[in-house]
Amino acid sequence: MSTLGSLCNLTNFLSIFTLVNCSTSCMKYEHCKFYPGHHLDCFGRWVGNGKKQWRCEWEPGTSAHRNTYTLFKQQGEYCGAKDNISSQNKEITIFQKRDLTVLLVENLKSPNCTKAVFKGTPTDLVRCGPPTQSSFLRHSGILDLNVVWMKHEERYIKDFNLKYTTMGEERKVYAKLFKGKNGRVDGLDSSQSYMVQIKCDRNSDCSQCPWSHSYIIPPELKTKPTLIHLEKTNHPTAKGIRLVTITWQTVEIDKLDGYFINVQKASGEPPKNQFNTSEGAISLHLSCSAFTVHISAFNNVSVSPVLTRNIENCDAVTSMGAERLHVTVHSKTSFTVQWDSQLLDSYNCYSVEWSRKNQHKTEYLSFFEDVASNKTVNLTESLKPYKRYMLYLHTRPKKETCELKHVNGSESTYGSVQFYYKEGTPISPPTNISYNNVTSSSLVLTWSPIPEDDLRGFLLGYIIYYKEYSSRDTSAAEKVAYVGAETTSYVIEDLKPGTGYNVEISGFTRAGTGVRSIKGIFQTCTQVYMKDTVIIMIFVAAIVLLVVACSIVKRMKAVLWPSLPNPENSNAIQKMENSREIEQLKMLQTLQVEEWHTNELLIIKEQATVSVPHLVTAESKVCTRASVRDSDTPLKSLLSPQTAFTCGYTTMEMFQQLLTFQSSPSMTQKARERLIQDDVGETKPGQSDVGQFSSSSLFDLSTTF
Ligand SMILES: *[C@@H]1O[C@H](CO)[C@@H](O)[C@H](O)[C@H]1NC(C)=O
Ligand SMILES: *[C@@H]1O[C@H](CO)[C@@H](O)[C@H](O)[C@H]1NC(C)=O
Ligand SMILES: *[C@@H]1O[C@H](CO)[C@@H](O)[C@H](O)[C@H]1NC(C)=O
Ligand SMILES: *[C@@H]1O[C@H](CO)[C@@H](O)[C@H](O)[C@H]1NC(C)=O
Ligand SMILES: *[C@@H]1O[C@H](CO)[C@@H](O)[C@H](O)[C@H]1NC(C)=O
Ligand SMILES: *[C@@H]1O[C@H](CO)[C@@H](O)[C@H](O)[C@H]1NC(C)=O
Ligand SMILES: *[C@@H]1O[C@H](CO)[C@@H](O)[C@H](O)[C@H]1NC(C)=O
Ligand SMILES: *[C@@H]1O[C@H](CO)[C@@H](O)[C@H](O)[C@H]1NC(C)=O
Ligand SMILES: *[C@@H]1O[C@H](CO)[C@@H](O)[C@H](O)[C@H]1NC(C)=O
Repeated sequence: MSTLGSLCNLTNFLSIFTLVNCSTSCMKYEHCKFYPGHHLDCFGRWVGNGKKQWRCEWEPGTSAHRNTYTLFKQQGEYCGAKDNISSQNKEITIFQKRDLTVLLVENLKSPNCTKAVFKGTPTDLVRCGPPTQSSFLRHSGILDLNVVWMKHEERYIKDFNLKYTTMGEERKVYAKLFKGKNGRVDGLDSSQSYMVQIKCDRNSDCSQCPWSHSYIIPPELKTKPTLIHLEKTNHPTAKGIRLVTITWQTVEIDKLDGYFINVQKASGEPPKNQFNTSEGAISLHLSCSAFTVHISAFNNVSVSPVLTRNIENCDAVTSMGAERLHVTVHSKTSFTVQWDSQLLDSYNCYSVEWSRKNQHKTEYLSFFEDVASNKTVNLTESLKPYKRYMLYLHTRPKKETCELKHVNGSESTYGSVQFYYKEGTPISPPTNISYNNVTSSSLVLTWSPIPEDDLRGFLLGYIIYYKEYSSRDTSAAEKVAYVGAETTSYVIEDLKPGTGYNVEISGFTRAGTGVRSIKGIFQTCTQVYMKDTVIIMIFVAAIVLLVVACSIVKRMKAVLWPSLPNPENSNAIQKMENSREIEQLKMLQTLQVEEWHTNELLIIKEQATVSVPHLVTAESKVCTRASVRDSDTPLKSLLSPQTAFTCGYTTMEMFQQLLTFQSSPSMTQKARERLIQDDVGETKPGQSDVGQFSSSSLFDLSTTF
């Protein structure tokens, strides 16, 4: 400082400010030009313990580089100077009660030096803010903001001001004052960007409150991303690991900065890992556990509504290590899970997860085990009887702690197994029972499985009960067939033709047999030679024949031999009878031929069809297809023209009806003719038409005569 010292004759004019008597100061800077571009500014700030620190700041002047600055300050008669300053700010010490004048000179020794002056009253120079940090959150047209002030000044700042400007074509400026550090502005246009500035509110401790820079508040994200695709595939090499790829999209693509993805086990076991990505896709390596994924778009002021997606447990469970994994239930609050002891060579960290099937609440236990290949779990919530539980055993590679650190790629599933605390019997029968491909001796029974919730145990199989349906013989033995649990159809064989059968079906578990289905009734197809029916028909025919014969005999007896003592010995009677019979037969033949060749019969036939709709239905259907809905009562189906039993009818009432009609074709031609002749006045079209039934394959008895 020799130069300056000699110039100004100052004592102690060294590297620290020294107070000097200004009258003795030498200010050889008059030749320097004033340069307002220096923006010389001096102020105080709170620095803790109620103290303030003062400093001056400035910008460089005209000279391009290697500038040195000289700072002079004056407070009344007290002056000070600091030379050779290479930075653009300087801390100073001042008297707080005296006005301050500061002079800055750039490159004092140069002919091209510049200078700037600052004047102020220290009490007006205490500066607070702007905030060091501000955070914003937009939602539902609201902007929430939080400001953080410098540590030592925050106790002096009571309120703050907010200025926000719309960024559309028309700029509107709004201002608001908030108490404390948080504020809320409502009624904003969600789709609009805003510009925001913040400053503290002036008070005696903070006499200066400069505005912050402008924060740009982008639009609010309001739409939930939509899932495009979720794909689960097995890991190509690692067993028990799934590759899960999720892709999604959103319409607000231009407003966002990226997506947050949260992945957590559905059981609630930590951790809850957050990933962020700017892509609309993520790929994860997960175990067979159930997971919950949350996806939302974000920008720096808002987060969109969340898309939540569950990743279900692996479903191909029974094939996965079920043979290596066992659960032994001890009581309703305790069970032991046991696994292959070889697993201990590779893993010591395990996780057991169990839940009631189709329920989302999953419980878990993760543990370290290096001795036993089993683990007894004590439950806080007791197991429910008759409910199916699903248990998974997962392995974790990390040795130190068995807690999961990352959901991605750090767990694999060893196996899964289902268990019951207590098994029960099925409370509902198989549904959707139908009868197909009915023949005279067999039929195919098909059904849909019992809903799993109704099983109440592991289904071991189905029991099919069938029995001849007959009101005459109620003691008919019930036959029983057992089929495996995987089966949903069964061929009932060795049935009697043209016979009605009752069928019931139920499932069974280890606990026993479940509820039987409603009785289904079907009839096997009738064969050409139906033993039972034929016998009945012959019987009826014989009676009719007898009646006819009797009346003929009586008439003859009365006309020819009114007082013949022993007609049995006469050949004449027999001859006459024979000739009469032949005559009648001839008559009948002519009549029949006439009938067959007239349209009249056809008309009659149609009428008959109308009068016995159920029979016609039965005939017109071929023995190929039949089904009974559970809700149909046998009787109802029988009486309905759309009867489901193509091969027959099973109520006695029905059977009798049939018999009535069938009795006619079962007669001999002669007997029929006799009937027609005798009851000519009462003959109904349907009765005269009885011959048509002979064309029925079902009731065709003509072949027997
Ligand atoms: C000015 O300061 C610099 C370093 O800050 C130093 O190297 C230089 O010697 C000083 N000049 C004078 C004249 O004291
Ligand atoms: C002073 O400024 C003039 C013109 O602006 C320039 O020519 C000259 O070199 C400068 N002198 C110094 C020492 O920088
Ligand atoms: C938000 O991000 C945008 C750029 O995406 C940026 O211009 C703006 O200043 C940021 N606003 C805040 C409040 O961080
Ligand atoms: C997103 O993740 C990257 C790296 O994982 C991180 O640097 C960044 O801060 C995250 N962004 C947000 C908004 O969390
Ligand atoms: C999950 O882990 C796999 C394999 O280490 C990796 O390829 C994938 O990028 C990871 N996913 C995330 C979201 O980190
Ligand atoms: C579990 O394993 C230990 C050690 O191998 C054995 O002593 C114990 O009997 C096992 N417990 C059960 C319930 O299997
Ligand atoms: C479970 O309970 C039994 C007795 O109630 C106890 O001996 C055992 O240590 C418990 N096991 C655990 C893992 O808490
Ligand atoms: C019925 O028979 C047909 C032809 O023989 C066959 O294709 C069909 O599968 C059978 N239906 C049932 C249920 O067995
Ligand atoms: C009944 O069977 C039909 C045809 O086989 C099937 O489409 C339907 O889903 C079944 N209903 C039930 C309840 O299983």
